[in-house]
Amino acid sequence: MTAPMERAIVVGASSGIGAAVARRLAGDGATVAILARRAAELQHLAQASPQRMRAYSHDVRDPEAVPDLFERIERDLGAVDTLVYAAGAMPEIAANEYAFEKDRATVEVTLVGAMAWMNLAAARFEAARRGTIIGVSSVAGERGRRGNPAYGASKAGLTTYLEALRNRCSRFGVNVVTAKPGFVDTAMTRGKPGLFWLISADEAARQILRLARRGSSASGYVPRRWALVAFAVRLVPSFVFRRLGL
Ligand SMILES: NC(=O)c1ccc[n+]([C@@H]2O[C@H](COP(=O)([O-])OP(=O)(O)OC[C@H]3O[C@@H](n4cnc5c(N)ncnc54)[C@H](OP(=O)(O)O)[C@@H]3O)[C@@H](O)[C@H]2O)c1
Repeated sequence: MTAPMERAIVVGASSGIGAAVARRLAGDGATVAILARRAAELQHLAQASPQRMRAYSHDVRDPEAVPDLFERIERDLGAVDTLVYAAGAMPEIAANEYAFEKDRATVEVTLVGAMAWMNLAAARFEAARRGTIIGVSSVAGERGRRGNPAYGASKAGLTTYLEALRNRCSRFGVNVVTAKPGFVDTAMTRGKPGLFWLISADEAARQILRLARRGSSASGYVPRRWALVAFAVRLVPSFVFRRLGL
């Protein structure tokens, strides 16, 4: 069974993976609402396929705005059948830094915003007995690493949240997809040390949409070889993790 994706919302579409997913969906004939804060970037993206994309400025740290915006998009586009949540934030955290405001922003963008959008989509799609919800999580959610505690915790939370959503909704025909990329060449990783197996945002988008189109409520690594790393990383005992400086 393949999942139809004809009218989509992509949250976090102004750059990187979200922009690439929106571009591919539009290229495949879908009508796409593209959302993020940076209006100029959204307009630039929409100009490439003005018939297929419509831009909406939105800050996911304002979850109260989501119900009205969802309705506005459906008035403009018609009933949406696909939600992609790609917004994420990973601020620099120094080794000796404990900064609550940065952590709060990370969790609000990466996890809380996803809940605000996915709850609404799940209720609508469950009632319609169709629809696809795609969450862009990360291999960073596999373990609590010292580098950025709030980012890892947000992605672990998002992965668990998506699994629960899948357990709730898939029996009603809703396709809930967890994509867990490794390293992708975007603004988020640019200049970071220690990157390997780096893929482009467009390649990540291609693989994420291939996973989603299966229509079987899948969870998968992007690319698939990250499953090996995730498996190994989960086996490492905590004390070894600490000794390795991870
Ligand atoms: N790059 C990687 O290696 C990698 C690996 C695994 C997972 N991921 C995940 O992939 C997703 C996309 O990231 P990316 O790598 O493509 O980086 P990116 O180019 O920095 O994209 C981040 C997106 O999130 C949006 N965003 C951030 N804060 C927002 C806010 N307050 N309100 C609305 N939108 C907001 C940004 O839009 P505005 O700034 O315009 O608002 C942008 O569109 C993220 O969830 C990230 O965690 C990335």
